[in-house]
Amino acid sequence: MMIFLDSADINEIEELAATGLIDGVTTNPSLAAASGMSFQELITQITKLVSGPVSAEVTGLDAATMITQGRKLAKIANNVTVKVPLTFEGLKACKALSNEDILVNVTLCFSLNQALLAAKAGATFISPFVGRLDDCGADGMQLIEDIVNVYEKHEFETLVLAASIRHPQHVYEAARIGADVVTIPGKVFRQL
Ligand code: G3P
Repeated sequence: MMIFLDSADINEIEELAATGLIDGVTTNPSLAAASGMSFQELITQITKLVSGPVSAEVTGLDAATMITQGRKLAKIANNVTVKVPLTFEGLKACKALSNEDILVNVTLCFSLNQALLAAKAGATFISPFVGRLDDCGADGMQLIEDIVNVYEKHEFETLVLAASIRHPQHVYEAARIGADVVTIPGKVFRQL
């Protein structure tokens, strides 16, 4: 199982990547805003610290804008993975970008049917939000298990990236179930 850092803190990424145990990084607009750097500069710096996939999220709401932003982000470095939301427009953007061999992480997944559509749209990664589901009384890990099983059954190549991970027990369960990736805040990495 791969371990990604869910962080846009350059110092933290540098320090934890030095362990040799970090396989990639995921960022989101809130984390990026907190970094105080321009988004382009932030992603450029992270791609220099980590050789694995670095997710950079689009902010457009329509597919055409997401595709334009995604193409621009993908040019920053070979390991940039364009992150798009699991909306109707995001799925269209995913299909278009993956057709151009751009890595795509479809984020904000809250159901198995959504994960099915992302896989059909050619997503490299699907990011179900475990913690956010738990927050509202649903079972986030059950969704991870369902997606892992269904992708395996239908031989989808999309990798299951367990996101919105809050504590080590989430990592334990994701590993036990067979998620391909967990993305975790620096705090949870230290807790492991
Ligand atoms: O990886 C998704 C993450 O950035 C959201 O996590 O803890 O705010 O639900 P959280």
